[in-house]
Amino acid sequence: MIDVLVFTVATEAKDGFMRYMDSAKEVKIKPIVLGFGQQWKGGDDIRRKPGGGWKINLLKEALVPYKDDKDKIVLFTDGYDVIFVDGLKEIIQRFQKTNARVLFGAESYCWPDPELAPKYPEIKEGKRFLNSGMYIGHITEIIDLLERDTIEDTADDQLFFTKAYLDEDYRNKIQMKLDHKSEIFQNINGATMDLEIFKSEVKEGATETYYVKNLVTHTEPLILHGNGPSKTTLNYIGNYVPNVWNSKEGCRMCENRQIDLKDKPASKLPIVFIAIFIELNTPFLEEQLEKIHALEYPKERIHLFIHNSAKYHAIHVKNFTEKYGSEYISVKQITPEDGTAEWTARDLSLDQCLAKNCDLYFSVDSIAHIDNPHTLRLLIQQNRTVVGPMLTRPGKAWSNFWGALTKDGFYARSNDYMDIAHNEKSMFWIK
Ligand SMILES: *[C@@H]1O[C@H](CO)[C@@H](O)[C@H](O)[C@H]1NC(C)=O
Ligand SMILES: *[C@@H]1O[C@H](CO)[C@@H](O)[C@H](O)[C@H]1NC(C)=O
Repeated sequence: MIDVLVFTVATEAKDGFMRYMDSAKEVKIKPIVLGFGQQWKGGDDIRRKPGGGWKINLLKEALVPYKDDKDKIVLFTDGYDVIFVDGLKEIIQRFQKTNARVLFGAESYCWPDPELAPKYPEIKEGKRFLNSGMYIGHITEIIDLLERDTIEDTADDQLFFTKAYLDEDYRNKIQMKLDHKSEIFQNINGATMDLEIFKSEVKEGATETYYVKNLVTHTEPLILHGNGPSKTTLNYIGNYVPNVWNSKEGCRMCENRQIDLKDKPASKLPIVFIAIFIELNTPFLEEQLEKIHALEYPKERIHLFIHNSAKYHAIHVKNFTEKYGSEYISVKQITPEDGTAEWTARDLSLDQCLAKNCDLYFSVDSIAHIDNPHTLRLLIQQNRTVVGPMLTRPGKAWSNFWGALTKDGFYARSNDYMDIAHNEKSMFWIK
């Protein structure tokens, strides 16, 4: 078995990193995480601006102890927007077939310097340009490449590798190639339309799994990277791959890292800031407020904030706060007379939440009825950065959830939208 070192860089346990680690565990990969717990040094807006040189410097340093270990293979991937689809055995087999000593993922765009595009070799099929989010190579060549030049932490790592690749002599010297057809590495930006999720064929009784096919290059990539604006596509795929969801067990990963509030004394529960927005006359508002009050959660751990724009409801809000207000840590009301615009009120509620050192912020609009009194606890127990209950209208396709987005951020119907809205493909199967 070939010895492979897998590296990634992540400074904190963001959701994307947790998903990365979940996928790694599923395919039995144990990444070495560089930079964890440190301040990010690779530039202030890596999503839009050049940066990431720090990743190179971290890896360079991490490889020092292995430098005489010439049999090792090094696999590097980004940490926040990458998913493993399959394990090292398959990855190494395909890498060896390429006859490269160093192989980088390829993408559709020549970034960060589009003017370098004409310098790239012409190709017949696949993506032409280098992406530095995923690469693999023999340790000797990887170290040679990392040490080819020095780089500032805030300079651009993709440009660094691009320059090496565009130097033909150097490229040939270390046998550096790009994975144009995504045999291993799939950078999703610019390739969203090339990809499709497929269900494995299963014998009766067995459980299906899902995998991703590139319909243009006829490959089944092994590692996926939601580079640039393709994160939502990665999120979509990541609901299924690797083995995240199946029709028998539902979401297999959703229970990872959940917390249990059952045995926690009230005084140890997170402080929740509940912000209620009444922006228009709303039928059954009194019932809606009663349902919020009925949430099973100690009121002495809740701040209430109510923004009411509807004169008609002033009496309902007044009656509600007079009846129950004293049970909460605090109650803040903004009345129609205050004339506060909705967006100002929403911003204000967040400021208040921070000012009161809230642990969690829960936003509820007046049209949203929370019928299950356990909702707040169940949401908290998911232990996610952002999570919401799904709201539907009986018998309608409507829900408060969007399965996909258009390029400019509007609603798009995803393939699985109806299944999810009808609760036939729930991401959280509450048992
Ligand atoms: C809850 O999530 C945080 C951050 O993702 C994680 O560090 C922690 O371990 C999780 N808690 C449990 C019990 O898994
Ligand atoms: C508000 O509360 C008062 C006093 O309990 C009650 O008489 C009145 O009917 C309530 N008004 C509404 C609109 O619920």
